Amino acid sequence: MLKKSIEDALNKQLNAELYSSYLYLSMSAYCETVPLKGFAKWLRMQAEEEKAHGMKFFDYLIEAGGTVKLVKIDAPKTEWKSVGDVFNQVYEHEKKVTALINGLMDLAIKEKDYATQNYLGWFVKEQVEEEANASEIQAQIKMMGDIVGHLFWLDHELGKRK
Ligand code: FEO
Repeated sequence: MLKKSIEDALNKQLNAELYSSYLYLSMSAYCETVPLKGFAKWLRMQAEEEKAHGMKFFDYLIEAGGTVKLVKIDAPKTEWKSVGDVFNQVYEHEKKVTALINGLMDLAIKEKDYATQNYLGWFVKEQVEEEANASEIQAQIKMMGDIVGHLFWLDHELGKRK
């Protein structure tokens, strides 16, 4: 049985992951209109991954005897200045998510909830990858952003994501 403080925090993170999905889907829609279809595809797949993260919290809450409480998901913004602007924000967003996961882990340690600490280990590891991916694409855009041909090459590469 989960303590109330842990249950509330897990539900909050479930909402945060679904918001991440919404945000990346909105970024994908923006990239479709640029149009940079490869960036759009990468972000659309990232939105799916964030939904899967949310569902991991959904499943854990149920398995651990808690209650899932779905609440309103905030609307993300819809306009960016460029794909460079988009990926600066993806990286900043992932750093915020890492801080949320670390905060959850701090709470699980404080509450001596060993099962939740073990469960959160997957997310701690995942966030290292999430930040690395976002920062790599951000750096590539910075290197290539001013050269249209190079940006199209990067768009082509990102479009290969499966
Ligand atoms: Fe669910 Fe991108 O972290």
